[in-house]
Amino acid sequence: MSNVLVRTADAVMDWVNQRAPNMMPAYRKHMTEYYAPKNFNLWYYFGSLAMLVLVNQIVTGIWLTMNYKPSAAEAFASVEYIMRDVEWGWLIRYMHSTGASAFFIVVYLHMFRGLAYGSYQKPRELVWIMGMLIFLTLMAEAFMGYVLPWGQMSYWGAQVIINLFGAVPWVGDALTEFIRGDYLVSDATLNRFFALHVIALPLVILLLVVLHIGALHEVGSNNPDGVEIKKGPKGNRWDEKAPADGIPFHPYYTVKDLFGVGFFLTVMSFILFFAPTFGDLFLEFDNFIPANPLVTPEHIKPVWYFTPYYAMLRAVPDKFLGVVVMGAATLILFALPWLDRSPVKSIRYRPMLHKLLLAIFVVAFCVLGWLGMQSGSDLQKLTAQILTVYYFGYFIFMPWWSRMGSFKAVPQRVTTHD
Ligand code: HEM
Repeated sequence: MSNVLVRTADAVMDWVNQRAPNMMPAYRKHMTEYYAPKNFNLWYYFGSLAMLVLVNQIVTGIWLTMNYKPSAAEAFASVEYIMRDVEWGWLIRYMHSTGASAFFIVVYLHMFRGLAYGSYQKPRELVWIMGMLIFLTLMAEAFMGYVLPWGQMSYWGAQVIINLFGAVPWVGDALTEFIRGDYLVSDATLNRFFALHVIALPLVILLLVVLHIGALHEVGSNNPDGVEIKKGPKGNRWDEKAPADGIPFHPYYTVKDLFGVGFFLTVMSFILFFAPTFGDLFLEFDNFIPANPLVTPEHIKPVWYFTPYYAMLRAVPDKFLGVVVMGAATLILFALPWLDRSPVKSIRYRPMLHKLLLAIFVVAFCVLGWLGMQSGSDLQKLTAQILTVYYFGYFIFMPWWSRMGSFKAVPQRVTTHD
């Protein structure tokens, strides 16, 4: 019996290979013969986890769309219908809304790994740029998704963010009207955000992820030691021409990534079943009240993953300058590969000064995130101003400080220490 099965499977594979002869070589190039450094640590889980969350968002999003009504009159009620009456609707909705926050947690950790190990440095600039484009598109995707339930925060969040474009000199008013499709946030706005959220931006993100990984596989992965394994000695158990410090991505890292997936799903399930709104961090309490253009919520604030940038916006007294600062805070990351002049990639072999500056940067970003959720007292505003200056100073002065201090010698080959 099993012989028959094997022969049938072989015959099917032969049939496919004759008609698509480049399929198996492509599979080998990216899986079994993609040699990744053997010293990956837990920071290398987040790329595959980001892909998992992306799939989760797409699948749960498709199911939500089956019952969601993209109209100002029906949107809120249709989400309530999904939560109360559609079988398992509550789970699908929470998987999507909690999934959005999980996406940002995973992506922020993924980006931090890049910062710490200098993964944006030559020859991985394109990998970083594709990643940044994903990040920007993801922010637009999340913002538009949050508008769809048409709760108070959806409405007023959209109002505040779209109005920011009004600060652009000369064309501001025309621009906000163009984005809204109306003189105020309305049914037309909801409709276009729906179209962009469910089809246009997910397609762009998918395409960018393919380019991101394609760019990575051209040059090969970096690693916690920042050693270029392609430049090191050749010959491993599988291939005498492959890097000695590389192991096949499949099955070694697919299995390792599965372990990460198990851990991640355990934590995710715990949040999903016991704290899906996570206080009011993942879904804000005000968004369980239907949108009302006549009543402004007491505190309008974005979801947690936008709050560091929101804090920077509010730290600047002038509205237009605030918008510029907020935009620049994300765009400056594109320049990272050219700002960092360090001769060494990984933080492991960099001077203490670099470790300290990076640690302060992370703390500053988190505190800004917290400040963006607060009402904004004078002290909070001052703190946000100081931290915003630090945030920009970190990048602007990087060409100088990244060359300072005494660097440790980078080993010839990857080490196996943690
Ligand atoms: C949907 C979002 C994303 C997905 C699915 C994704 C996926 C991946 C995967 C699978 C890898 C290889 C495995 C790994 O190194 O963890 C990777 C590597 C990388 N990603 Fe992403 N990524 C995303 C967003 C980003 C963003 C926003 C950035 C930065 C702006 C970024 C920067 C990088 C870099 C620099 C590497 C190479 C790391 C190294 O070799 O050390 N990625 N990404």
